[in-house]
Amino acid sequence: MKLILLGAPGAGKGTQADILCKELDVPTISTGNILRAAIKNGTPTGLKAKSYMDAGNLVPDEVIIGIISERLAEPDCAKGYILDGVPRTIAQAEALEQAGIQFDSVVSIEITDEAIMERMSGRRVCETCGASYHVAAVPPKTEGVCDKCGGALVQRKDDKPETVKARLAVYHKETEPLKAFYAERGLLKKVENQPSVEETSQAILRVLGR
Ligand code: AP5
Repeated sequence: MKLILLGAPGAGKGTQADILCKELDVPTISTGNILRAAIKNGTPTGLKAKSYMDAGNLVPDEVIIGIISERLAEPDCAKGYILDGVPRTIAQAEALEQAGIQFDSVVSIEITDEAIMERMSGRRVCETCGASYHVAAVPPKTEGVCDKCGGALVQRKDDKPETVKARLAVYHKETEPLKAFYAERGLLKKVENQPSVEETSQAILRVLGR
């Protein structure tokens, strides 16, 4: 299964990818997580990406295409994968197509900008393993502590309201056209965001015929 998850910042791509990768038994490739790890480790890619990410802008296509080509060549991707947060521009989608990759489905999680603005203020992420929580919708067992690794939960730098607004504008301009790109190829499946994470997972599995 080769699946792309599309959606606005905060639509729930990472949350759903985490659930679906267990259901489908394939790895999740999140360019956001790869870039945050690169920043944390002070690598040249991280240094290049940081200012773009802090401002809510996209990291240049050539950096992303390099990262994703390397990652998809690793052995655990042989049986399939879920792409979370990539492609994000037509140029990235064309690069994947030119690499000969054929996807089974592209799922777009549909949610309004208003719901995103409200939701993002409550997101908390683990500073050690990157796991994502929400103070009301997906709370950890112990406040401020990651269920998975015991790391501290913090607010992401790019979740400040003004940065979320910038990220939404970038999404509408650069990433939303991918819906038409994949609809033309007969791959697009739209799923409305549901009130709970579980209901959204069920809706995605339904459109995937699972
Ligand atoms: P990235 O990390 O990919 O951020 P994003 O796409 O903006 O998405 P998020 O991680 O913010 O949200 P999500 O959709 O995964 O939602 P989540 O599951 O956390 O990218 C960050 C930056 O890196 C970009 O701005 C860019 O600079 C750069 N970058 C990355 N990839 C790139 C690329 N390909 N090209 C160029 N630049 C790139 O859920 C959000 C919250 O909602 C959580 O708190 C969650 O618990 C909660 N929640 C989820 N579902 C539900 C539900 N159904 N009901 C209630 N709450 C829910």
